[in-house]
Amino acid sequence: MSLTIIKGTILSAPTLGQLDALPGGYLVAEDGLIRGVYGSLPEQYAGAPVEDWGDALILQSFADLHLHAPQYPMLGMGMDLPLLDWLNAYAFPTEARFADTGYAREIYSRLARELIANGTTRVCMFSSLHTDATLILMEELEKAGVTGYVGKVNMDRNAAPGLLEETTEESRRETLRWLDACQDFRLVKPMLTPRFTPSCTNELMAFLGKLAAERDLPVQSHLSENQAEMAWVRQLHPGCQQYWETYAKYGLWTSRAVMAHCVWSDARERQAMRDAGVTAVHCADSNQNICSGVAPVRAMLNEGVKVALGSDIAGGDHLHMFDVVAASIRASKARRVLDNWETDFLTVPEGWYLATSAGAAYFAEQPGFAPGNHLHALVLADDDLPQPHPMTPQERLERAVYLRQGGAIRAVWSEGRKVFSAEG
Ligand code: GUN
Ligand code: FE
Repeated sequence: MSLTIIKGTILSAPTLGQLDALPGGYLVAEDGLIRGVYGSLPEQYAGAPVEDWGDALILQSFADLHLHAPQYPMLGMGMDLPLLDWLNAYAFPTEARFADTGYAREIYSRLARELIANGTTRVCMFSSLHTDATLILMEELEKAGVTGYVGKVNMDRNAAPGLLEETTEESRRETLRWLDACQDFRLVKPMLTPRFTPSCTNELMAFLGKLAAERDLPVQSHLSENQAEMAWVRQLHPGCQQYWETYAKYGLWTSRAVMAHCVWSDARERQAMRDAGVTAVHCADSNQNICSGVAPVRAMLNEGVKVALGSDIAGGDHLHMFDVVAASIRASKARRVLDNWETDFLTVPEGWYLATSAGAAYFAEQPGFAPGNHLHALVLADDDLPQPHPMTPQERLERAVYLRQGGAIRAVWSEGRKVFSAEG
């Protein structure tokens, strides 16, 4: 049996809005599964090696439920256009470069290492339409210790002719080739990824929906991100009253579906999410950068919709999830103002819950450091910052969310394994 005992100020989010803090606590995992959090070390572990991090914060690591790996090279660039123009001008040409497997290897190994070093251990991630680059991405994530789902993107219409395109037949064939080739990955699994309704013919959507049912595969896509996009979807599917119905019609609206953005999802669309158990992924940076809008996250939470957070790089300009939490909180304050002060903004404990426990729930984990969960954790050492007064663990977490602390993440565990150590 392998045993991990981590000592420090253990802070976790067991429910939305609540933080449990235990200074001088012990987080114990056996064979990669959490046994418990203890104020003193249980008798049975007496004499076992303890990683003692002193006063440092021991936190749940992050789940980023929506990001585009092949947009990593353009992170922080091209924010002067709204979604549909932005895709054509920036995103598609950048993704096209991943036809080159050497380039894919170089970029994806770097992305995987940056994710782990910054405490993101679970993802739902878009690749590009290229099968070989997608397999390289999965290899690099697994090697670095990032777990979760990756999708070869399907896009058989309205793409970039001569640059980034696939026929319906190629899309089908390559999806099957990709699914065959990725069977042996242990921690990174495939997820069907119709880019969004305007990118996929009805024939392709029907093929993917059937595949999702036959092979019990999860699905990810984009939903109601931008008003021009929604008008386009209405034109393409005059028979569907709302955007979500274009996915539902083809079997892509399931309890394992992850839908990014949902900025303009009204009460009816949100109810469809709740009824089906679809997860909405809030991508606050991206929604602001490419002028999509401010998502009604509080309404979704009140109505019982599952919500998690996504960096959505490179529409989003922040890969690191501390920043993504801060952006989500800021967006919720803008939403409050737009709603005539009638909706509450997200608190730091709520934002933290969405970036950790809520994302982990998609992977069938219980909130917080619950016994039975896989060990996904990070150590944050913030002891060289000036303090206005002796700070509580909750205040330290707030500062970690808002204030970039380069080098403060000292160690990361993913799926029970230590995958990053600042000591090298
Ligand atoms: N909708 C379809 N593709 C994309 C993408 O790459 N980024 C964002 N933000 N929205 C999309
Ligand atoms: Fe996206």
